[in-house]
Amino acid sequence: MSQFKTIEASQVTISELMLPSHTNFSGKIHGGYILSLMDQIAFACASKHSSNYCVTASVDTVDFLRPIEVGELVVMKASVNFVGRTSMVVGIRVEAEDIHSGTIKHCNSSYFTMVAKDDSGKSVPVPGLILKTEKQVRRFLKSLNRQEMKKKHRNETSKKTELQIEDLEILRNSHKVQLEY
Ligand SMILES: CC(C)(COP(=O)(O)OP(=O)(O)OC[C@H]1O[C@@H](n2cnc3c(N)ncnc32)[C@H](O)[C@@H]1OP(=O)(O)O)[C@@H](O)C(=O)NCCC(=O)NCCS
Repeated sequence: MSQFKTIEASQVTISELMLPSHTNFSGKIHGGYILSLMDQIAFACASKHSSNYCVTASVDTVDFLRPIEVGELVVMKASVNFVGRTSMVVGIRVEAEDIHSGTIKHCNSSYFTMVAKDDSGKSVPVPGLILKTEKQVRRFLKSLNRQEMKKKHRNETSKKTELQIEDLEILRNSHKVQLEY
């Protein structure tokens, strides 16, 4: 396995015409269907980079910016933004194109953390990244910061702290909570 790979070598694009069978009750495309496609493209991209099958460890910021309509062409682009020892952060951009007008709207951008696994299910090291453009360097650094913030947040939230009187006071003052604790 090569020790370093370019980002371009594992970039993946998929496009799919949205069918009526993918709609929710309000006639728009179901968010869960889009998430499933995003997971598939993240899997393909990370597996290509690592030359191993991968699993999804976490998903960051899935904001549905605009609804997607039946008959629109959804285009998803994925690339590896960052690599750790066994993990990769795959950035995904989702756009939808109106077939008649050719108008393209940005619907979603998300980050999937994928971990490479060997045949026995053990996490395995992944190749490094060759960064060739300023955009690639910026994305890598942004991911690195996000990873560090997440680790810090995980450590803080995993510590079980005593409930403070002030915390309960916030709930007592909320009109949306009936505190029976
Ligand atoms: C997530 C998972 C792969 C962690 O693997 P592990 O080998 O047991 O644990 P490790 O602590 O060695 O973590 C491996 C890597 O995953 C990263 N990782 C683990 N949990 C993570 C999380 N919640 N978010 C982001 N990264 C995470 C670690 O930082 C580490 O990265 P690095 O090697 O680049 O430093 C493992 O818990 C797993 O297999 N989970 C289920 C995945 C799955 O089934 N996904 C589909 C859901 S339906």
